[in-house]
Amino acid sequence: MGMIENFIAGIPKAELHLHIEGTFEPELMFEIARRNNLQLKYNSIEDLKLAYNFNNLQEFLDIYYSGADVLLEEQDFYDLTWAYLQKIHSQNVLHTEIFFDPQTHSLRGVPFSKVITGIHRALEDGQTKLGISSRLILSILRHLSEESAFQTIDDALEYKSWITAIGLDSSEKGHPPSKFQRIFEKVLEEGFLTVAHAGEEGPPEYVWEALNLLQVSRIDHGNRSLEDHTLVTELAMRKIPLTVCPLSNLKLKVVNDMTIHPLAEMLDKGLMATVNSDDPAYFGGYVNENYLAVAYALNLSKEQIVQLATNSFIASFLEEKKKLLMIEKVQHYYLSE
Ligand code: HPA
Ligand code: ZN
Repeated sequence: MGMIENFIAGIPKAELHLHIEGTFEPELMFEIARRNNLQLKYNSIEDLKLAYNFNNLQEFLDIYYSGADVLLEEQDFYDLTWAYLQKIHSQNVLHTEIFFDPQTHSLRGVPFSKVITGIHRALEDGQTKLGISSRLILSILRHLSEESAFQTIDDALEYKSWITAIGLDSSEKGHPPSKFQRIFEKVLEEGFLTVAHAGEEGPPEYVWEALNLLQVSRIDHGNRSLEDHTLVTELAMRKIPLTVCPLSNLKLKVVNDMTIHPLAEMLDKGLMATVNSDDPAYFGGYVNENYLAVAYALNLSKEQIVQLATNSFIASFLEEKKKLLMIEKVQHYYLSE
């Protein structure tokens, strides 16, 4: 390993933008399909991986949802989550905030209770066996109706203490945050925090809507915010975190080359940017590979890596005391390296 690889591998960090269904590695997908007596559309792991060649968000989503279709039992959700936790444990991720998409499963007849119980049980084991703290974010599929979203929130209320925030993901263009204003009003009243994917493919206007109508605590992606100077000022002034996903951006052609990825510009403009993996099984890397890709392509300094790791804790939903502890750990690592 080179010097910067070692430095990235060892630095304590949090992950804040991770879809649990996007951690479904082909090997586990075939194993779970087999034990559930389901047939995947692909004959082999190699065939499946050949399909991971996306030109945009929608082409990815079609494959991502079809992969998730083999998840049926609580144990499947446990195994999926546990595999992810073991992986990030090896990458010095100390805290993770994961999205799950209940509608992907409830529409296939898999009850909400099985999905959330499997994930939650693995997260508890992540804390006790691996020392990884976590938060769970329920994400609403924006291509579906407001009615379906209300049904999902109803299901979630029974498990309120397991869920920290409500998010918004899936096909962005044509599905602005305003479509879910009433949903987010309800969940804010219920005491949930809110986040939303915005400005990945959609225009800066969608980021404004997420801020003003959904009262989000963070913007997921947010790349296209840079097209609007007033918006950049607002995000910087309010220290609204952006959960940026470099390898995702490259694979979904949100950026055409890593050397022109906007992460460095975001940091230069005083934005609270963080580095995350989004859907690591599909985009070719977990969080450390994402740090490394931008570190190489943008020639990031050690100090910028430290800034990104520090931001990951500042931007997290950890309690303030725990945040400070984690930030001290990052500083201690920096000074000892
Ligand atoms: N964007 C929108 N929806 C998603 C994504 C993403 O990057 N990953 C999983 N669902
Ligand atoms: Zn995402």
